[in-house]
Amino acid sequence: MCGIVGIVGNRPVAPLIVDALKRLEYRGYDSAGVATVEARELDRRRAEGKLVNLEQRLADQPLGGHIGIGHTRWATHGAPVEVNAHPHFSDNVAVVHNGIIENFRELRDELTAQGFSFSSQTDTESVAHLVASGLKAGLSPVEAAHAAIDRLRGAFALAIVFRGEDDLIVGARSGPPLAVGLGDGEMYLGSDAVALAPFTNRIVYLEDGDRAVLRRSGFNLTDADRKAVEREVKISVGSALLADKGNHRHFMLKEIYEQPEVIGHTLSHYVDFNERRLALRDLDGAPAGIDFAKLSRLTITACGTAYLAGMVGKYWFERLARLPVDIDVASEFRYREPPLSKDGMSLFISQSGETADTLAGLSYCRSEGQAIASIVNARESTMARESHSVFPTLAGPEIGVASTKAFTCQLSVLASLAIAAGVQRGYIDQATEERLVSELAEAPRYTNEALHIEEQIEALSHRLAGKKSVLYLGRDTNYPLAMEGALKLKELSYIHAEAYAAGELKHGPIALIDDEMPVVVIAPHDRIFEKTVSNMQEVAARGGQIILITDAKGAAEVGMDEAQVIVMPDVPEIITPIAYSLPIQLLAYHTAVHMGTDVDQPRNLAKSVTVE
Ligand code: F6R
Repeated sequence: MCGIVGIVGNRPVAPLIVDALKRLEYRGYDSAGVATVEARELDRRRAEGKLVNLEQRLADQPLGGHIGIGHTRWATHGAPVEVNAHPHFSDNVAVVHNGIIENFRELRDELTAQGFSFSSQTDTESVAHLVASGLKAGLSPVEAAHAAIDRLRGAFALAIVFRGEDDLIVGARSGPPLAVGLGDGEMYLGSDAVALAPFTNRIVYLEDGDRAVLRRSGFNLTDADRKAVEREVKISVGSALLADKGNHRHFMLKEIYEQPEVIGHTLSHYVDFNERRLALRDLDGAPAGIDFAKLSRLTITACGTAYLAGMVGKYWFERLARLPVDIDVASEFRYREPPLSKDGMSLFISQSGETADTLAGLSYCRSEGQAIASIVNARESTMARESHSVFPTLAGPEIGVASTKAFTCQLSVLASLAIAAGVQRGYIDQATEERLVSELAEAPRYTNEALHIEEQIEALSHRLAGKKSVLYLGRDTNYPLAMEGALKLKELSYIHAEAYAAGELKHGPIALIDDEMPVVVIAPHDRIFEKTVSNMQEVAARGGQIILITDAKGAAEVGMDEAQVIVMPDVPEIITPIAYSLPIQLLAYHTAVHMGTDVDQPRNLAKSVTVE
């Protein structure tokens, strides 16, 4: 994780770097820092915690200089305190780093023996000393940077500046993304194009192994073997405007409320509502050239909330299209290296398109010759660039660290793909397709109606606030949704929460139930509603406090006075996971607000997880 920026400009760069870091704060907010070269001297300001603290530090002690680098940190090695904040210095060198240097212990021992002293617990400081040791040995700054980078193992995006060099930044990418921005008489480096959006929309993405040497007049790229390489200049569509919360108290609440609209946008990319037919389109809006009829198996890989969207997708693909689906979290999949079916397709799901484990899974599937498809929100991401077919979610930028609208848009794409697969594979006839499309068309309306129960949910969230642990139960597609509810609650409120398939409770977890344990049950009135009611009875018999999320029919039939019931609109089955996402998001949100936690930037998390 972490976000890095570099600017070689013709005006004071510290405020520009802070501006760029604001756009990268989603990558981590444990500390932030800026270093510049002014009058040939290196200087830096660093501050623990969020970027506002660095801004305050810079207001008190401004930093001049027309060239500099900046960093916003998600701590990997060393506590989130100022001494561990980047940029890290050695004699004549300052470095910012995103990633993990795996051989840093070995490097630290070697550099300590050479007389370098370490002032932080980070892996990054060894990079600064390594470059400095090359300078001491008589190498030029660029040569010293190359020599140091050659020695690094692990994942890194780096930006390096040097004392006495006010027209030189060296960047390198091995794993985490890095982009060069082309200005007029200024050059920029950043973890993504959005960071550079206020300065330029002309972007060159480094490929894995690439190194960049930036000067005001231009830049050159080499690959890991130091051979000159050319990469295409792309025009970024990233907005230079910083997203704001509007009238909402938090970005997360704003994003919850945006869902009816963005689900509608996303569905219209895949569905012709006039004709009531599926019309899948790729990233550029051209008809998607995907043939599900030829597929023997679909392998879905993702992390966190995106993985849970994939789990809902598995139920849909298997039920609607009789297409066998394997699904795994990317951090397991990448090292499990499972055999993949010939004629199979691999599908990756990610909001950021930069999640390190998911990208590693993608590389594995590519090396196995699989067709690669992805469902991605960040259209200029590494994942979008590395996929054969890209299915965009049109959620817009998601700022709240906990995913909400990206999740329901992922579900919208998965529902569309599964129906299309069912049609292509001959399991869905035209009348059924028309019915399903008409039902999908109702998703924005039902999600909007679901927002009307916010007040009731807020009142109920008092019952969760302060609890030690909460269980979530569901069956079928509501099982992954229960997992998503538990994930949202724990990441936002820091209350321990776990989800079980409702039928699995009696095989062990029921031992946890007592009169202190809230149990959230997601159970619309469907073909297995009665089964879930039996599981609820088992919980009630042991004193568990049930919060049931169901529809009017379910509420009428449940017949349990002890349950608190949240009544949802009566939604068609295909859009149940989309509509029922809203109450579980709102429940986690309001519980966190009661608990006073930082809803938009929960502790220890980052929006884009670019380390494994
Ligand atoms: C939870 C959450 C995370 C992400 C996960 C994958 O609210 O947001 O679990 O879903 O880190 O991130 P992406 O989708 O960017 O690959």
